[in-house]
Amino acid sequence: MTEKKKYRSSAWYNSKSHRRDTFIHRGWMRNQGHPNHLFDGRPVIGICNTWSELTPCNGHFREIAESVKKGVYEAGGFPLEFPVFSASESNLRPTAMLFRNLASMDVEEAIRGNPMDGVVLLMGCDKTTPSLMMGAASVDIPTIGVSGGPMLNGHHRGEIIGSGTGVWQLDADLNAGKITEDDFVSAEISMSRSKGNCMTMGTASTMGSMVEALGMALPHNAAIPAVDARRYALAHMSGKRIVEMVKENLTMSKVVSKDSFENAIKVNGAIGGSTNAVIHLAAIAGRLEIDLSLDDWEKCGKDIPTLVNLQPSGKYLMEDFYYAGGVPAVIRQLLEKNLLNKDALTVNGKTIAENNSNAERWNKDVIKDFDNPLVKDGGIKILKGNIAPDGAILKPSAASPELMQHKGKAVVFESVEEFHDKIDDPNLDVDENSILVLKNCGPKGYPGMAEVGNMRLPQKILKKGIRDMIRISDARMSGTAYGTVILHTSPEAAVKGPLAAVQNGDLIEVDVNKGTLNLDVPAEIIAKRLEEYQPVLPEIKSGYQKMYIDHVMQADKGADLDFLVGKRGSEVKRHSH
Ligand code: FES
Repeated sequence: MTEKKKYRSSAWYNSKSHRRDTFIHRGWMRNQGHPNHLFDGRPVIGICNTWSELTPCNGHFREIAESVKKGVYEAGGFPLEFPVFSASESNLRPTAMLFRNLASMDVEEAIRGNPMDGVVLLMGCDKTTPSLMMGAASVDIPTIGVSGGPMLNGHHRGEIIGSGTGVWQLDADLNAGKITEDDFVSAEISMSRSKGNCMTMGTASTMGSMVEALGMALPHNAAIPAVDARRYALAHMSGKRIVEMVKENLTMSKVVSKDSFENAIKVNGAIGGSTNAVIHLAAIAGRLEIDLSLDDWEKCGKDIPTLVNLQPSGKYLMEDFYYAGGVPAVIRQLLEKNLLNKDALTVNGKTIAENNSNAERWNKDVIKDFDNPLVKDGGIKILKGNIAPDGAILKPSAASPELMQHKGKAVVFESVEEFHDKIDDPNLDVDENSILVLKNCGPKGYPGMAEVGNMRLPQKILKKGIRDMIRISDARMSGTAYGTVILHTSPEAAVKGPLAAVQNGDLIEVDVNKGTLNLDVPAEIIAKRLEEYQPVLPEIKSGYQKMYIDHVMQADKGADLDFLVGKRGSEVKRHSH
């Protein structure tokens, strides 16, 4: 074999100066039946797979990987699939978010430590997208994203039913005595009736759309259903394209810039995307050493209407969104209003404008007109005040317009356990004008910042037919949830952020238009309460969780571990046999 040093993998497979190492690297690979010519210096493409039977949303990823491989071989590359930690939103306890950063470390080290010149990221369930993007960003070799795609629309007893969103509705109906336990159980398979991730505009579909808006995947990546043949064609094309990207040395940091993040924030507003995008984009930007703050969300999200009429904000589901034109049709509308950085690059080597300017829109009820949107002020609203000096967030499109300006008495729960114990107590001093406050569910407090911010309403309120109240916490909320829910208050209660000072009966004033969130209590009393406050902290003394608690940053910084921020590159020491 001739020595080729063109690509990174040649240091493993084509080194003449370290022949014994080469024998070992190449020789052991041969036990899988790979012929000689695959080690001739051609681009080696890693396929980073989050397949797991315990991550049902990604359960079809071995098949997607096969389509990627076809494309890689077709373009003259050598594909090698490898597994990484798969954080399942539906199964993993205490919360998948606790393991996003751990998974990103696995991804980063697996890419850097192995002979690959480019990598295809197979992502689907909520945390699998940011963890792979974060890990890959820190290595920064040519990278392309392929999402697994959403499940087909749920159908239950004549009704369309959406992942997550349907659960919250059914749960409220069950608690209000409107449906039986049997009705509840029978909805399970009606909701999840095909392979794929949640088919509402929850966090998985939002992050798939963010990957597309950032330019990190081919057009239509987010919305093609998981079982649609076009999903497999896209995977095949992505495999073909990554080989070209290696030849062009088109690394992740050459594709994704601050402009790309600004575009993603705007697209998030237009799709009515999940609040979790705020935290994940901050973490990905941190890895790429791009400065992205809540102020960027305020600046870029302003005046972006929600165009996409999907649950939880609207009516339809991801399957409908794809048939209506998907993310490209949304991007086109934003481009036509000159709202996007049109020269932002994408993985196919074209700009976002070149990719999407001619995108078709086939259904104007699913993807609304810019001038007749689903919600006029979409996006994510940033709230600041003496409860959240570093910010809190709210998704107006999922909230009740009549609660956008509200003053109410706080009903406080010190922990999620206390919430569960007391919420249905008939003696709880609460009415529909109260504001539910939950503490100690932030990054350090829970730990892992669980999706418990959309607290269930008290039964006595639900029985009155009320379905929404203001809720404030340092937690996150599932992207499939809805309601007037203020999340991610920073700093969190567990580090004595001022949320910790709120007590039962205090008056809280929320003004979403002004972006304010204030406790009507004098500053000196807040300070005194904080001095005396004893956070309800988890008892963790060792293991990964201890490292996580010691190093996790606050929500406004993306809740990454402080020592993981930044690019560490792809250089690796040769290991000598
Ligand atoms: Fe996996 Fe929703 S639980 S995407």
